[in-house]
Amino acid sequence: MDMTADPSPVTLEIVGATALIIIDNPPVNAASHAVRAGLAEAVAKAEADDAVDVIAVYGAGRTFIAGADIREFGKPSKDPILPQVINGMEACSKPVVTILHGTALGGGFEVALGAHARVALPSAQVGLPEITLGIFPGAGGTQRVPRLIGIPAALEMILSGRRIGADEALKMGLIDRIDEGEPREVALRVAEDIRAGRLATRKCSDLATTPDDAALEAATADIKRKQPNLFSPLKAVEAIAASTGPLEAGLKLERALFMQCIDSPQRAGLIHAFFAERAVAKIPEKDATPREIASVGVIGGGTMGSGIATAALLSGLSVTLAERDADALSRGRGTIEKNLAQAVKRGKLTEEKREAILADKLSTTTELADFGGVDLVIEAVFEDMEVKKDIFRQLDAIAKPGAVLATNTSYLDIDEIAAVTARPADVIGLHFFSPAHIMRLLEVVVADKTAPEVVATGFALAKRLRKVGVRAGVCDGFIGNRILSHYKKVADYLMMDGASPEQIDRAVTGFGFAMGPFAVSDLAGLDIGWAARKRQAATRPPEERYIPIADRICENGWFGRKTGQGFYLYPDEGKPTPNPEVAKIIEAERAKAGITPRDFSDDEIVSRFMTAMIAEAVRVLEDGIARRPIDIDAVYLFGYGFPRFRGGPMHYADTLGAAELVRRIETYAKEDAHYWQVPQMLRDMAVSGGTFAALNEER
Ligand code: 3HC
Ligand code: NAI
Repeated sequence: MDMTADPSPVTLEIVGATALIIIDNPPVNAASHAVRAGLAEAVAKAEADDAVDVIAVYGAGRTFIAGADIREFGKPSKDPILPQVINGMEACSKPVVTILHGTALGGGFEVALGAHARVALPSAQVGLPEITLGIFPGAGGTQRVPRLIGIPAALEMILSGRRIGADEALKMGLIDRIDEGEPREVALRVAEDIRAGRLATRKCSDLATTPDDAALEAATADIKRKQPNLFSPLKAVEAIAASTGPLEAGLKLERALFMQCIDSPQRAGLIHAFFAERAVAKIPEKDATPREIASVGVIGGGTMGSGIATAALLSGLSVTLAERDADALSRGRGTIEKNLAQAVKRGKLTEEKREAILADKLSTTTELADFGGVDLVIEAVFEDMEVKKDIFRQLDAIAKPGAVLATNTSYLDIDEIAAVTARPADVIGLHFFSPAHIMRLLEVVVADKTAPEVVATGFALAKRLRKVGVRAGVCDGFIGNRILSHYKKVADYLMMDGASPEQIDRAVTGFGFAMGPFAVSDLAGLDIGWAARKRQAATRPPEERYIPIADRICENGWFGRKTGQGFYLYPDEGKPTPNPEVAKIIEAERAKAGITPRDFSDDEIVSRFMTAMIAEAVRVLEDGIARRPIDIDAVYLFGYGFPRFRGGPMHYADTLGAAELVRRIETYAKEDAHYWQVPQMLRDMAVSGGTFAALNEER
């Protein structure tokens, strides 16, 4: 026996006439190669053992198998592949039952579908989330689920990827029974029931799918309308359609289509996004102990403060909201009440819970002196250094020792804010995104003197608020807004040189962004950018090209959505339309600057837009503002509507390659050598053939 080999993650134990097959591959029992091989071998052994008459499979630890091992995707597949293991299990001559607990997802649930009965613990969830990873169930799920629950329900389950609780799964017919207890105890009891005829077993392969062409056609039309960019949903429908024929042919088609999805760049992008969400928590301060946070003081009840307060209340924290006067306070409270009412509408909260939160958890004040007892203060007042400094001076005198003092500033220097206090180690940036109770990104901005446990507290808070915390350093705009400020300029240059705002927005949304840059500006309020440009005017380098179009729009009092017009017109009813007055302003400014407009293709627009974004992102890395490329990806995925299937700007940059990016920048630099500069890191990568993915591994 080879003593150096790792012990198999699958064990077979015979208890009386029951074979228990236990899968133990922490943390989530993913169906890695060793699990697949171990499972196939254990089933074969149990089948061959004359003493065994029932086989029960369950998972050790927190869950049944949570899916295929997605780290193996993109690498050569190793036999036995999961479909082989599942087909072998289904063909077994003795009854096989799976006991599901935790999250039986994807390939994990497909293993259960290959068994002859499925029993779940009450807290178990099942589901086929593959669609969210750019693939679809590729181990028989598209063939066995329709046989069990019909085509319409199978389409809904597979195309949504949603998790289904045990009760609903039982009603749908996905599982056969709910039973309480430890998986092992349930396994032994259920085996007895199978033996005694109290639980029937059957094979999915013996069932037939009822054809339903109308449901398939409706699903196809829906995908083409709502997700025109996505590759795998239509493949899933094609595979499900084949479930009305013989199983073997259906499985063969499923495998071929599944491999097309595995080979698609969208699969790589979406799985990168899955790991990005988890990778960002790996910070240098991860071993520091976070401070206990039960109560939060929020200063400023405007757009951000009320959203932040809502987010904290929804997570069970007590909130005290401070404003300048009673009027502003009641406006802030009103917004929070409205936000919570929306949460009730969306099914996130019950009405009773909303009332309880408002009665017990939310208090308001006009006196910062009331913040003496809170564990964390988040300042969200006007974006003005002097106003913020004044508040931090007061907080320094009021807050209890050990309280975390956070600012939600978008751009300002947090070191400078911290310096007005005698406790800069307690000061940190917590940069939320609007609407703060909905957007998942939270930039945790670490200033020079911020203590490690204060950083850890920021990350613990992000987790508590169910947000994605990303570690950022101090600079003008941190990670996200610094990059945004840069590529926003290229959108202005394109507009000045010939493209219309709506063409640019269309090209960018065609690439997959949720919104284009001009629609975003209208939503945020054009006055915000206007104020920033005025502030920056004194320090703007003379070589920088300046586009005054947005200033002209603002001079008319048109600040975007909130004033009914900006780059677009916002009628009370119906969709926004391009603003004809803006077209006139653009024409006049071009004439003034002596520019003859030229044509840009949508591809050219996307190329310049993305190259500008990537170039600044690389500088953000060079400056150490973001620690790893994947942190930038997470910021853009969770805060800026970046198309998830493209994985984030740095992942996308790798698909282009550093050499191509350098070539583009050098080409554009012939028009504007100040704006288009090749970052040294990118130039080095182009020479060495390096990638951003490799940097993620190193850091
Ligand atoms: N493969 C490899 N690693 C996985 C994994 C998987 N399927 N699922 C989770 N992990 C890793 C995570 O990356 C994380 O690693 P880390 O500790 O190094 O960061 C660790 O397991 C724990 O995961 P979470 O932090 O997400 O733990 P939670 O308890 O919050 O959530 C979960 C658990 C619900 C299982 C969640 O991890 C999840 O949704 N996983 C993905 C499930 C999935 O999509 N399964 C389908 C896979 S595709 C498939 O099966 C194809 C088949 O049809 C052929
Ligand atoms: P806002 O103008 O909507 O709200 C600011 C609020 O602060 C006002 O209600 C005002 O009455 C109050 N306030 C001012 N001085 C105060 C004081 N001394 N004490 C108590 N309250 C006071 O502004 P918004 O948009 O909420 O921005 C707040 C902060 O959040 C700014 O620093 C901004 O840069 C930042 N931010 C804004 C985002 C956005 O999308 N609007 C996104 C992320 C950060």
